[in-house]
Amino acid sequence: MKERILVTGGTGYIGSHTVVELQNAGYDVVIVDNLSNSHADVVDNIEQVSGIRPAFEKVDCLDFQGLEEVFKKYAGIKAIIHFAASKAVGESVEKPLKYYRNNLVSLINILELMPRYGVEGIVFSSSCTVYGQPDTLPVTEEAPIKKAESPYGNTKQINEEIIHDTVASGSPITAILLRYFNPIGAHSSALLGELPNGVPQNLVPYLTQTAIGIREKLSVFGDDYDTPDGSCIRDFINVVDLAKAHVVSIRRILEHKQDEKVEVFNIGTGRGLSVLELIHGFEKATGVKLNYQIVGRRPGDIVKVWANPERANKVLGWKAEISIEDTLRSAWNWQLKLRERGIQ
Ligand code: NAD
Ligand code: WQD
Repeated sequence: MKERILVTGGTGYIGSHTVVELQNAGYDVVIVDNLSNSHADVVDNIEQVSGIRPAFEKVDCLDFQGLEEVFKKYAGIKAIIHFAASKAVGESVEKPLKYYRNNLVSLINILELMPRYGVEGIVFSSSCTVYGQPDTLPVTEEAPIKKAESPYGNTKQINEEIIHDTVASGSPITAILLRYFNPIGAHSSALLGELPNGVPQNLVPYLTQTAIGIREKLSVFGDDYDTPDGSCIRDFINVVDLAKAHVVSIRRILEHKQDEKVEVFNIGTGRGLSVLELIHGFEKATGVKLNYQIVGRRPGDIVKVWANPERANKVLGWKAEISIEDTLRSAWNWQLKLRERGIQ
């Protein structure tokens, strides 16, 4: 019998790629998503990629009863991957209560339901945003948590604390907190990828939309930082590599291999790439010339951050494998496919 995994936010960007990898690894997946930032047809695309249709329930994680019905309907859920959250940093500054409500109450509902239905563990989507600007690079999991720059970032810090406190209180569950660095790219089939709502705030979707002509020009936010070329540095991680980190985490939970009841892992490549390097890498990988200009700094930006992923490499046996060239090509192919489908 296949082990059953519940994936909240499973029709979203990272969730959809993870569902495919879970299915490829032999798990039976149930998706819960309220479709607030994704579309139901993602389920069709998942099926096209993996050959297996995942169960899908349009349920809001804020709806405790609705969520409980899912646990009843799909008996024997062994573990959960909790992606469902609101994630736009700028919006979180304008609507903090929406972010605190959605990101905190959803997790609380899940943590309450897990022991009632015998669910063993949870993999939680955390973020390198919890480190702020680290004092030492590459950043390890031991680095201090800095005061959050936004309500969104704060929800990730509080979520981590909620999980620690719940496990410490004796809840019979275990957890793996994955701190993602900057996920980019799309599935090699170009059937799954990131579908930004409105004007993209993140670099790569803005870049590919500029390359295809939806946006006139990409603004590079600052070239006067204390970095070799003056632009900010990030650790860009391919979304399929990131998805696979969830599969090994689930396996670790279900095989009871954890050293601690709550474990934390950085999920990044270990390599920092500047914004300008990424732009030139995109041009080289795709042969598409990009219209960009240097503008002023974006308030709140971290200057440079990249992961020390050694713990994930050693303990999870996971490593980022896909090259940045292939990753940028996949992002471009996804953008081309969206046009073909008449979506953007
Ligand atoms: P996404 O918006 O594409 O996916 C999130 C999904 O959750 C969406 O399909 C949305 O409809 C759903 N959702 C939101 N609130 C819900 C609710 N109350 N009930 C049910 N479904 C709900 O985002 P993503 O980029 O795939 O991010 C997934 C997770 O990873 C989020 O928790 C995000 O904070 C975290 N994360 C993302 C990044 C990034 O750069 N993309 C980086 C670090 C961490
Ligand atoms: C990357 C770099 C920008 C757009 C955000 C969240 C973080 C995490 C990932 C979830 C920066 C520059 C961007 C543009 C640009 N999400 N840039 N022109 O800021 O590292 O992180 O997403 O947890 O919490 O804050 O990602 O893609 O927005 O920016 O020059 O049009 O690209 O200044 O240096 P960021 P990003």
